[in-house]
Amino acid sequence: MTNPSLLIVRDLHVSVEGKAILKGVNLTVNAGEVHALMGPNGSGKSTLSFCLMGHPKYHVTSGQILYLGQDMAALPPNERAAAGIFLAFQYPTAIPGVTIANFLRAALRGVRGQDVPVKEFRQIVKANLNALGIAESFMSRYVNDGFSGGEKKRLEILQMAVLAPQLAVLDETDSGLDIDALKTVAEGINALRAPERGLLLITHYQRILNYLTPDVVHVLVNGRVARSGGPELAHELEAKGYETFRDQETVTPVAS
Ligand SMILES: Nc1ncnc2c1ncn2[C@@H]1O[C@H](COP(=O)(O)OP(=O)(O)OP(=O)(O)O)[C@@H](O)[C@H]1O
Ligand SMILES: [Mg+2]
Repeated sequence: MTNPSLLIVRDLHVSVEGKAILKGVNLTVNAGEVHALMGPNGSGKSTLSFCLMGHPKYHVTSGQILYLGQDMAALPPNERAAAGIFLAFQYPTAIPGVTIANFLRAALRGVRGQDVPVKEFRQIVKANLNALGIAESFMSRYVNDGFSGGEKKRLEILQMAVLAPQLAVLDETDSGLDIDALKTVAEGINALRAPERGLLLITHYQRILNYLTPDVVHVLVNGRVARSGGPELAHELEAKGYETFRDQETVTPVAS
């Protein structure tokens, strides 16, 4: 039996403040797969990630997002999270006044739909803090308040590990990490790989893919997937950049 499709993005067109950003994205992530999404600045990668999560500012003008066979159009972000979708933000927001402990507990309660016993919560958090090399003292700090870039990215991975989503979309979680942190974060992501899970990893760099070999690499250019391929595609991009894709974009008409 083939794996069920965890995520199907079908001819997705998305506008932000009246401007068309995604212009017919097609993408399928099966359970158990890791997909890397690469592409130049401004090509629409974060826009796609926000749409998958249901950000109200991003308007789906046509096309579909199917998660486990269900059309996500009518589902608000909290229900998508409860259904098992997680997004690690490219630019995590600070929430002064809310401690990480309270934030994580509320997030876990929201996703589970019921309260999490304190003892169980402590166990889950402690195991993941150790694995990610985050000091326990962080739990009483306010979410992302005064955090370094790398600390913010580690906290995104801690959230993912605690919530254990079925589909994780990680938007440039590898950006701004030092060499050791990159390895720790990659291990944290690897630990979550499972036959029932899927990962969509948005990245600019091949280096994280050395730790997390993707099944498929997609190149998003000007709001469309210009090419998909195996891990070798990321190496090709590293060597050649995006110029050839930009040329293809202007020469090859794409049916809408
Ligand atoms: N809220 C918004 N308001 C106005 N324009 C937006 C908004 N969100 C995205 N855009 C525009 O959509 C385009 C795609 O942005 P997006 O953040 O998706 O790119 P990206 O591929 O993630 O780039 P990067 O690699 O720099 O993170 C950009 O031109 C951006 O300015
Ligand atoms: Mg982005």
